[in-house]
Amino acid sequence: MKAIVRDRYGPLDTLRLDDLDRPVPSPGEVLVRVRAAGVDPGIWHLVTGTPYLIRLMGFGLTRPKRPVPGLDLAGIVEEIGPGVTSLRPGDEVFGTADGSFAEYVTVKATRVVPKPAGLTFEQAAAIPVSACTALQATATVHSGQRVLVIGAGGGVGAYAVQMAKARGAEITGVCSATKADFVRGIGAKSVIDYTREAITGRYDVILDTAGNRPLSLLRQHLTPRGTLVLVGSEGGGKVIGGGVARTLRAVLLSPFISQRLTGLFASAERTADLLTLRELVEDGRLKPVLDRVFPLSEAVSAISYVQRGQARGKVVVRV
Ligand SMILES: NC(=O)c1ccc[n+]([C@@H]2O[C@H](COP(=O)([O-])OP(=O)(O)OC[C@H]3O[C@@H](n4cnc5c(N)ncnc54)[C@H](OP(=O)(O)O)[C@@H]3O)[C@@H](O)[C@H]2O)c1
Repeated sequence: MKAIVRDRYGPLDTLRLDDLDRPVPSPGEVLVRVRAAGVDPGIWHLVTGTPYLIRLMGFGLTRPKRPVPGLDLAGIVEEIGPGVTSLRPGDEVFGTADGSFAEYVTVKATRVVPKPAGLTFEQAAAIPVSACTALQATATVHSGQRVLVIGAGGGVGAYAVQMAKARGAEITGVCSATKADFVRGIGAKSVIDYTREAITGRYDVILDTAGNRPLSLLRQHLTPRGTLVLVGSEGGGKVIGGGVARTLRAVLLSPFISQRLTGLFASAERTADLLTLRELVEDGRLKPVLDRVFPLSEAVSAISYVQRGQARGKVVVRV
């Protein structure tokens, strides 16, 4: 089978399109014929092995444990491993698998669910990691709240805007001018172009996915009992990365103040969350946000496009 492969951590040109043996599902697993795989900033980190902290998280200390990158997927169940009763060959599914930048991947049956009706494989592959993260980040948002989404034009932000809106909140999105119309189109009432203006106003909830702004600044824009959810941030040092130190400070400070400061470590492996996302899509409350589709042979360009922060919403690789 064709797959994107690497043997070591390094720049994106360490990735190559190669032929690998088709994997065989173990007990509890299914073999999926991947039709589309989502791209997010995490893939760049796992290819380069930076910040180094991620190597301590089970991905391989000196070289990557898994040769094939990729996590999000949508595809068709090809084969069932022993003991799997929830899925059958031919089922169209979406979810996550380790190594989705390949024609076939094996995955625990609990990590994929039937894909939402009416979506293409590309649209479905644009959902799992970013929308699960947004779902978990917006879990405490409720009707009538004022919510600020920083990085509203990106993969997580674009889903967070939609989900907070679906919960009845009033959304202000922070993004560059090129994404302002897109962010309004998915439900933000107002937009702050951070390249030209400062953040203004007070919010009940701030969902922070970009920019690594100081905690003191974010707290100025939170109501006295407001909640800050630190989701992520690019840049920063090669060792522990941009947002980690700030998140630690936030968690340590939170018990001593009236505002609630939290860091999110989202999981895209929860069957229940994938089923919730499918329901949200099928009843029209959530739309996949798909910017561009690249062929598998151009996976490097896809990762690089996301890493440059250019995508409006999500990017997908067609397999
Ligand atoms: N905590 C978790 O479990 C978890 C899960 C998934 C992802 N993440 C992390 O969350 C972050 C966002 O992920 P993503 O998939 O949404 O990335 P993405 O698709 O690249 O989106 C990031 C967005 O931030 C915007 N941005 C860049 N600098 C900004 C600034 N200074 N102020 C405001 N917006 C800015 C970018 O576009 P514009 O500059 O054009 O507006 C871009 O749209 C990443 O660091 C990712 O690793 C964390």
